[in-house]
Formats: sequence, structure tokens, C-alpha cells
Amino acid sequence: MALYSEKVMDHFTHPRNVGVIEDADGVGEVGNAKCGDIMKIYLKIENDIIVDVKFETFGCGSAIASSSMATEMIMGKSIHEAMELTNKAVAEALDGLPAHKMHCSVLAEEAIKNALKDYFDRNNIPYDKKQFPDCEHCHHCE
Ligand code: FES
Repeated sequence: MALYSEKVMDHFTHPRNVGVIEDADGVGEVGNAKCGDIMKIYLKIENDIIVDVKFETFGCGSAIASSSMATEMIMGKSIHEAMELTNKAVAEALDGLPAHKMHCSVLAEEAIKNALKDYFDRNNIPYDKKQFPDCEHCHHCE
């Protein structure tokens, strides 16, 4: 069996929603301390709905495929639905990632959450801090 699914290869070679939103309503950036890869997510939000999303990922193929798939999964969704997106759901939508590449999908989940947190902060929207685990104390990347 091939190491990567066709969907991973498709999203890696033809990533969707690559780019920058200059007047984004929320921007999230996360890095994986171990591999040095960085992912940045830009959100445009109207009436609690994500009307546009773009990403920039300086990282491995799995991280690029994960960001591409994750942006497709939250486009047009409410900010509350986007908060529920997990790295497991992203990996499943990609028909799986090799076990040692699962941490790459975590970057996508965390970058989206960080962008939403930025949106909440900018608009003084209250939120539960526990929804945004502190990256330094998370064990995904170990
Ligand atoms: Fe760094 Fe995949 S190896 S995100």
C-alpha cells in the first residue's frame, strides 16, 4: 500500500486556498518546535460565518495537505463549527495519514483555533481559555 493516500497527494500537489487575506478578521500562526514547520491561517468572518479562508504553510507534504483539507472543511461553516474541527477529522478526510505524520495535521487544527482566538480577542468576544491549549504544554509533537 502506498504510504500516502490519493487525497493526500492531490491536496499536496494541488493545495486549495493557498495565500493571504490582507484584511483578515483573524490570523493564526503555529509552529512545530520539533520539525520547524510553520502554518499560518487567515479567516474572513461575517455574521459568525467563515466566508473566506487562506493558508500559508512552510512545511512537509502532510502539513500542506492537512492545511488544504482543513480550509475546505471550515469554508462556509460557522465559527462554532470550526472550533470543533479536530486533527483526526482532517486526517480522516484525507483518507488517513501515516502514524508518524499525524502530528502534521495537529498544526492545521491549532492554526485554525489560533486564528479564531485572534478573532475573539479583536472583537472582545468572551471564550473559555481551556478551549485553546497552550502549545508548549501539548504532547502532540513529542
Ligand atoms: Fe513538520 Fe509535518 S514534519 S509538520
